[in-house]
Amino acid sequence: MAYRVGIVGVGPVGDRIYRVLKERSFPIEGRPVVMATRERTETLADEEVLVREVSEELFEGLDVVLFAGREGAKGASVQWGKVATDAGAWVIDNGSDFRMTEGYSLIVPEVNMDAVTPASKHICSPNCSTIQMVVAIAPIHRAVGIKRIVVSTYQATSGWGQAAMEEFDQQVQQYAAGEEIQWDPGIFDKPIVFDCLPRIDAFLEDGYTKEEMKMVDETRKIMGAPGMRITATTVRVPVVVGHSEAINLELEAPLSRKEALEILRDPAQSPGVTVIDDTENKKYPTQADCVLDQYKDNVLVGRVREDVSVENGLNLWCVSDNLRKGAATNTVQIAQGLVERGLL
Ligand SMILES: NC(=O)c1ccc[n+]([C@@H]2O[C@H](COP(=O)([O-])OP(=O)(O)OC[C@H]3O[C@@H](n4cnc5c(N)ncnc54)[C@H](OP(=O)(O)O)[C@@H]3O)[C@@H](O)[C@H]2O)c1
Repeated sequence: MAYRVGIVGVGPVGDRIYRVLKERSFPIEGRPVVMATRERTETLADEEVLVREVSEELFEGLDVVLFAGREGAKGASVQWGKVATDAGAWVIDNGSDFRMTEGYSLIVPEVNMDAVTPASKHICSPNCSTIQMVVAIAPIHRAVGIKRIVVSTYQATSGWGQAAMEEFDQQVQQYAAGEEIQWDPGIFDKPIVFDCLPRIDAFLEDGYTKEEMKMVDETRKIMGAPGMRITATTVRVPVVVGHSEAINLELEAPLSRKEALEILRDPAQSPGVTVIDDTENKKYPTQADCVLDQYKDNVLVGRVREDVSVENGLNLWCVSDNLRKGAATNTVQIAQGLVERGLL
């Protein structure tokens, strides 16, 4: 059985979706129908691909459409999500527009694939920083229960799309050429090249940013824990690909470093997690590791230790490729999950 697949959006996430579908040999009938705001040829996953201007007719006959467009009223899933589901396709959406809307499932396959039902064919994939955190902490939650999460993130420029990656690259070139650093305050508030910027997405009235509240709200929805206490500080750092997170957990019961590592090292209890935690040999995961072939679809966990400041506290560090597990791989895994469950 093969499926007719559409992709909307050809930024870094659309590119990785095209690539991951190929790598995983997802059964596609013909070639994917690739759409963006205007027609042209693009190189995706090292292949010349015809990109079509998105239109209603292109959704006809598609079985599943993976959305990697921009968000908001003029964005891809608001404009075309319903067109796709009305045409009979499943939608798997990287954007944030419908993640918290009732009736739309929000899925990380390692954690809550069972929340998918045929009642809603529009499935949302969470924010990149949420995905890697829930993959790392869901096994601990299942084992002993989590009462409170305090998370700080260190997020790559690619998390804000192609334009942000290019701006960072330009600043690196300017620095190397001994030129004054230029930047577009529409993307980053300050030059990102030798700095860390503690604002991702818009500020809200209470001083949090939208990115921080995505981590709070989405984590509660995915983990089925509406009352879980969560607070986040999200920071953009001068890295191209890969997000890191320092996570502090307050647990319902004691869990030693040894017990936590046993849980996280067990693939049956902790699918998608790879532990790199060897203090003797100074081994821990970093953003440079998460893009390596052997790790690129996993969440790397290290620096696991009991929190000395609170009862039943645990600290850990996690790293993942925001464009792959944080976006493209997660959506392709959801599509694979639909096939496995006979829903597609
Ligand atoms: N980057 C990450 O780490 C990450 C992680 C998780 C989720 N996401 C989400 O994934 C989505 C894509 O991210 P990205 O970084 O690849 O973004 P990007 O670099 O801005 O690329 C967006 C793509 O979407 C297309 N597009 C925009 N509006 C459209 C519309 N109304 N109809 C059809 N196509 C439209 C654009 O078309 P043109 O090329 O023709 O302009 C472009 O190809 C975003 O919603 C983002 O929030 C990103």
